[in-house]
Amino acid sequence: MVAVAGGKGGVGKSTIAVNIATAIGRLGHRVAIVDADLGAANLHTMMGVLHPSQTIAEFIDHKAETLEDIAIQVSPTVSLIAGTSRPGAANMTSQARLRLIRAIARLEVDCVIVDVGAGTAFGVVDQVIAADVKLMVVNPNLPSLHNAYALLKACVHRISRRMASDETQQDLIDAALGQETKARTIPQLLAVLRPLDPTFADKIADTLQRFGGMLVANQLSNEREKGAVERMAPLIYDHLLLHTPVTGTIPRTQTLAGGLRAGANTLLEGSDETSPAIRRLAGTILDADLARLRGEARPSSQASTVPIWVQRDLAS
Ligand SMILES: Nc1ncnc2c1ncn2[C@@H]1O[C@H](COP(=O)(O)OP(=O)(O)OP(=O)(O)O)[C@@H](O)[C@H]1O
Ligand SMILES: [Mg+2]
Repeated sequence: MVAVAGGKGGVGKSTIAVNIATAIGRLGHRVAIVDADLGAANLHTMMGVLHPSQTIAEFIDHKAETLEDIAIQVSPTVSLIAGTSRPGAANMTSQARLRLIRAIARLEVDCVIVDVGAGTAFGVVDQVIAADVKLMVVNPNLPSLHNAYALLKACVHRISRRMASDETQQDLIDAALGQETKARTIPQLLAVLRPLDPTFADKIADTLQRFGGMLVANQLSNEREKGAVERMAPLIYDHLLLHTPVTGTIPRTQTLAGGLRAGANTLLEGSDETSPAIRRLAGTILDADLARLRGEARPSSQASTVPIWVQRDLAS
């Protein structure tokens, strides 16, 4: 499962999601692309489906029990789970969110791409954490870089907190990470935690090492802008202990700028300079070492699995 996330303000999350789904599908892999940007659904329009016959609203309302029931086949290999923009769609209970994450993880395809939308709400963070590969789409501007950092921090916070087995551990993490101005870095947090509870500290460090983050620098105009994004990766590692290499660099092009025609954002032909960049990114995603990211001893198939904390929550 691949989550496509990032800040607000049109950084290009949906554009990247649609185009990598198309690229992976063209390689012959079965792909499902899920519009989980509830309340601001637009993947269907980008993919040329103006009026989806069924959307994720049917699943949320229990009119459909699986996402397969509402999938729309947009090409021989790519199916779309269209989102919904009805009022209140984004206000799901934690149980409903979990049901959706579980259904996404159960989609029987080779690769699931989830457009999680912007922000750091639990609905977004939980979708990101549940994915094997987390694409953080950024633009070379400060708000976008700040937003991506805030989302990564929210993920680290939630992962660490979920791993805490009692209130003392949770309080320690909240106190260390929750402050706006004087928050500790993760290495500092681990340094405090290790003498108290070395097993817990090692468990957090190990999980963060397997985060599977990738930065995608989108809408680049020149090499200098690429450099600005590249400088972000070591900062993220120093503060959050997450590896997030710059895996994709996508230029700003007219083809991706979209237009008034439905489907205008999708690169259908390889004639644009963006196409090789998208194909490279798709290749890197397909090459991701899922067994390592999932902490499994032996290689596994491409099929999605539910993270341990989701399984635990579902069991309770
Ligand atoms: N590489 C690019 N070159 C040119 N235009 C781009 C590029 N990437 C995205 N765009 C354009 O930027 C606009 C915003 O892109 P998109 O809708 O994918 O962003 P988003 O991050 O999904 O936004 P939102 O948070 O609103 O969902 C669109 O008009 C899109 O066509
Ligand atoms: Mg979007």
